[in-house]
Amino acid sequence: MPAAGRGERLGPGAPKALRELGGVPLLVHAVRALTRSRAVGLVVVAAPADGVAEVVALLDGHGLEGKDIRVVAGGATRQESVRLGLAAIPAEVGIVLVHDAARPLVPVEVVDAVASAVRAGAEAVVPAVPLADTVKRVEPVRGGPEPVLDTPDRATLRAVQTPQGFRREALAEVHAKALAEESAGDAGALPPVTDDAGLVERFGGRVVVVPGHEEAFKVTRPLDLVLAEAVLARRRAADAY
Ligand code: CTP
Ligand code: MG
Repeated sequence: MPAAGRGERLGPGAPKALRELGGVPLLVHAVRALTRSRAVGLVVVAAPADGVAEVVALLDGHGLEGKDIRVVAGGATRQESVRLGLAAIPAEVGIVLVHDAARPLVPVEVVDAVASAVRAGAEAVVPAVPLADTVKRVEPVRGGPEPVLDTPDRATLRAVQTPQGFRREALAEVHAKALAEESAGDAGALPPVTDDAGLVERFGGRVVVVPGHEEAFKVTRPLDLVLAEAVLARRRAADAY
């Protein structure tokens, strides 16, 4: 679970994973969401490098003592945090799910569906939902107006979420290749890869999509926290939590 980001788009305050939702840190919600799945046996959290002890104390303080949870120091980028987390997973673990701490409300059905698809033989699996908005590709111009290049057919587009699931060797291999590319300074010309499945695609692997869920949205901007509070309140009222 990459949880080492600062949450700059959320505005001033604590690191995003430690910000509260219904009085409980996002990270605690996200870890609970994973441990609710019987497919999950161990959670490795990549915490802000200067916040490892704080995160350990936080997880212990929220009734997660009985679970197998390890905390490692994350890195300067999401990709590096995932790589550091992967390195802390015991060799015998064959299937890995990568889940953003910033998606605290992912339903257990999504976690189960991703794990099942990897178990059934997929190398890489992402949960995703159709888009509500029409999407246009533009020539970015700071301050705009930006010329439109084209409009992809919305029916073929998906917004991808986490957890993304992988055969462990496949994920470790693409992370190692990406690191080697960066060290060699060869990655420059290609667009940045923003998720783990993207790395698999980049090196020619096959990725499949399973249904995601609207409640698996990522808390990115202040309005997302308002929405998350509302979803949590609705769950608590329905006593589903
Ligand atoms: N992440 C991480 N290490 C980093 C950067 C991000 O582990 N160096 C994690 C975040 O903690 C988050 C997930 O990657 O759980 C998704 O990233 P994002 O939503 O971009 O979170 P932040 O990077 O924290 O937010 P922002 O980009 O607004 O600063
Ligand atoms: Mg970020």
